Amino acid sequence: MSRRTRARIVGVGAAVGEQILTNFDLEKMVDTSDEWIVTRTGIRERRIARPDVATSDLAVAAGREALVHAGLEAAALDMVIVGTVTPDMPFPCTACLVASRLGIPEVPAFDLSSGCTGFLYACAAAASFLDTGLYRRILVIGGDTLSRIVDWQDRSTCVLFGDGVGAAVLVAEEGERGFLGFRLGSDADKSEHLSLPAGGSRLPASAETVAGRLHYLRMDGQEVFKFAVRATTDASLRLLEELGLSPEEVDLFIPHQANRRIVDAAVQRLGFPPEKVMVNLERYGNMSAGSIPVALDEAIRCGRVKEGDLLLMVAFGAGLSWAAAACRW
Ligand code: ACO
Repeated sequence: MSRRTRARIVGVGAAVGEQILTNFDLEKMVDTSDEWIVTRTGIRERRIARPDVATSDLAVAAGREALVHAGLEAAALDMVIVGTVTPDMPFPCTACLVASRLGIPEVPAFDLSSGCTGFLYACAAAASFLDTGLYRRILVIGGDTLSRIVDWQDRSTCVLFGDGVGAAVLVAEEGERGFLGFRLGSDADKSEHLSLPAGGSRLPASAETVAGRLHYLRMDGQEVFKFAVRATTDASLRLLEELGLSPEEVDLFIPHQANRRIVDAAVQRLGFPPEKVMVNLERYGNMSAGSIPVALDEAIRCGRVKEGDLLLMVAFGAGLSWAAAACRW
């Protein structure tokens, strides 16, 4: 009698930038106001990593916390996956740096670049590896230090982002608990709306690219906004439908923490009451691939998730990409 195994999260952890940057601090840096930022985004402050702290440092801290929560030693892991667009450097990948620091340099380790959907894409990849039976325990990390690629002279973007990383230990288990399904997708024709133009093979770093400020994140906020509301709503409904579930059965909705107005618009369309929606963006801003795992970590640690709860996590980001995951806790 063989029962299907599922990928289940058995431990979570998080690490955010140490320094707090408030809207009032930003008022002194660019032509903006606390009132504008709160009204348009819901964000009040964000966390910034110290200059000597890179993505891998936060990833190791979050990963260690997740292992403690899971009651596992790093030696029990078979693989490390990191979803990030701000690796310490183009290569080696951040996952290898993390594996080395955790004392498991022999495990397969790789990064996954899909912007803010990085954590959910990485969970889907890990779940596939676990489903095949090839691996048993995978550390999935999602997060970014976006402060390193934000143009601090551009008020339309610099007020939105912060630094943070979340981690989850996924194991293969028999039973009803764990990931029920994923729905991943892209709208790749819209890639120009969110990009970091230089520093790759198209536009290698040069005096011109630096002078042109091409090493910073560029975004068409309104286009991303429209995509975000539609993608969050559609991905949620399609995944629930595929699983034969209704929005009423969702116990906690954890959306990508980019903008309060995006969350509210999607929640209104999906019909979730406020107590079923996890929002912490007012304290962190948008931490890209870190948003969902940090919110998940917070939800679990403050008792908002009970055994048997149905969680729905949905993200959108560079690509443009989107991802939804349903999980029976
Ligand atoms: N302070 C004051 N005024 C500002 C600021 C600011 N920080 N930023 C822009 N403005 C001004 C603009 O210049 C514009 O002025 P104008 O009317 O004189 O031209 C005015 O405010 C309105 O600008 P809009 O861009 O129309 O403002 P909008 O209401 O669309 O809000 C925002 C902008 C917050 C960026 C919104 O479009 C948004 O949230 N988009 C989605 C962004 C997002 O989620 N990105 C993350 C995706 S993935 C990833 O994380 C990498």
